[in-house]
Amino acid sequence: MKRVTAITTAAPLVPPRPTLPSLRAAAAGCRACPLWKTGTQTVFGEGPRRARVVMVGEQPGDQEDKTGHPFVGPAGRLLDAALAEAGIDRAAVYATNAVKHFKWVPAGKRRLHQKPDAREIAACRPWLDAELRVLQPELVIALGATAAQTLMGRAFRVTQSHGQRFEVSWAGGFVATVHPASILRLAGADRERARAAFVADLRAAALGLGRTPP
Ligand code: URA
Repeated sequence: MKRVTAITTAAPLVPPRPTLPSLRAAAAGCRACPLWKTGTQTVFGEGPRRARVVMVGEQPGDQEDKTGHPFVGPAGRLLDAALAEAGIDRAAVYATNAVKHFKWVPAGKRRLHQKPDAREIAACRPWLDAELRVLQPELVIALGATAAQTLMGRAFRVTQSHGQRFEVSWAGGFVATVHPASILRLAGADRERARAAFVADLRAAALGLGRTPP
């Protein structure tokens, strides 16, 4: 017998006139891809409804999965410090992820991050689209290739285009930069250089917002 693979997407779960609280509530029960089985909970985006800047990461990490909040682990702490250096008020930023469940494999007592695949990203995409429709941000900043390619297509290269502003239909502008976790994987002078380049990208992105930092 021929096996039929179901096309899974969160689209039917998105409420017709979504608000951030209604999206969050609906996403809590999302089973559009298999990651709900391994993730502890849906980690939905967080930040003010009037945020001018939306930051998009790849997926929650170990600590985000346990606490239910995005960017609270080591990468989040690096991001907080870099945002402060770049003159962007973290409390005024909405932070979310392309995929809202933690994908991992066991490695002894640790849970090792696994990159989400194209089907998981596509299944989760309606949540990100809905967040952007509700927030209508002045600027979206993608952190790393997964977020950047989710929003701009598979041909987008963060290495080539980081720090550059792009015109898009779904936000006032778009800028990509590296994922903070990629900086944490470096050591010594390499880490310092990557961190400085990250702050420079964020600063360039903030300049596009005009004179008043977000
Ligand atoms: N990395 C991400 O991409 N998102 C988080 O929320 C935490 C780490």
